[in-house]
Amino acid sequence: MEHPKRLTIGISGASGSVLALELLKALKEIPGWETHLVISKGGVRTLEHETRVTESQLTEYATRVYDREDVGANVASGTFVTEGMVIVPCSMKTVAGVCHGYSDNLLLRAADVTIKERRKLVMIARETPLSPIHLRNMLTLSQMGVVIMPPMLTYYTHPRSVADMTNHIVGKILHEFGVEGQDFKRWGNAECVTPLRALS
Ligand SMILES: Cc1cc2nc3c(=O)[nH]c(=O)nc-3n(C[C@H](O)[C@H](O)[C@H](O)COP(=O)(O)O)c2cc1C
Repeated sequence: MEHPKRLTIGISGASGSVLALELLKALKEIPGWETHLVISKGGVRTLEHETRVTESQLTEYATRVYDREDVGANVASGTFVTEGMVIVPCSMKTVAGVCHGYSDNLLLRAADVTIKERRKLVMIARETPLSPIHLRNMLTLSQMGVVIMPPMLTYYTHPRSVADMTNHIVGKILHEFGVEGQDFKRWGNAECVTPLRALS
């Protein structure tokens, strides 16, 4: 049976909740994709601190939203077919939980299931500086096949705003799932290789 393309999205309490908002908005415009969203308590707190968007406004962009305590929800089971999961942004606490299989909320359980089903898991892991604990956990996850994608600043695209930087990271996430982001600048395009001094 044909399933729609489903992406599980987890939002945890690292800085960068606008990345999740923009990812949800982008996927809402792409036919054939569903988004299945879980937000941790920390995720709600950072969203409210960093944006003017409330939890209920954000969830309007998702196809389906789950209670973070409901470890019996669809996305907690491997039989619910998805293309994978993105945790965006991903806190170091959630990195640790996923790394050690400590699935005490639905976000962590969904990530655990994504790994056990050998599906793609992309973690937009954000903290700075990184401690040996963080680095060790991320190395372990990377060696399991998890994509560790810190939301790094990118200059070669000549961003003019935080929105441009955000769009680039959203484009990188979409690329992992074979989706082309709007206005995503790839290396090799003329606008990417213009000398940086052209900005001044
Ligand atoms: C405004 C704000 C920003 C934060 N930024 C980060 C961050 O960038 N990285 C991180 O690992 N934790 C960050 N934290 C701390 C996490 O939110 C905290 O460790 C929380 O328990 C994570 O839980 P969760 O992973 O279940 O969401 C931040 C907290 C606040 C209030």
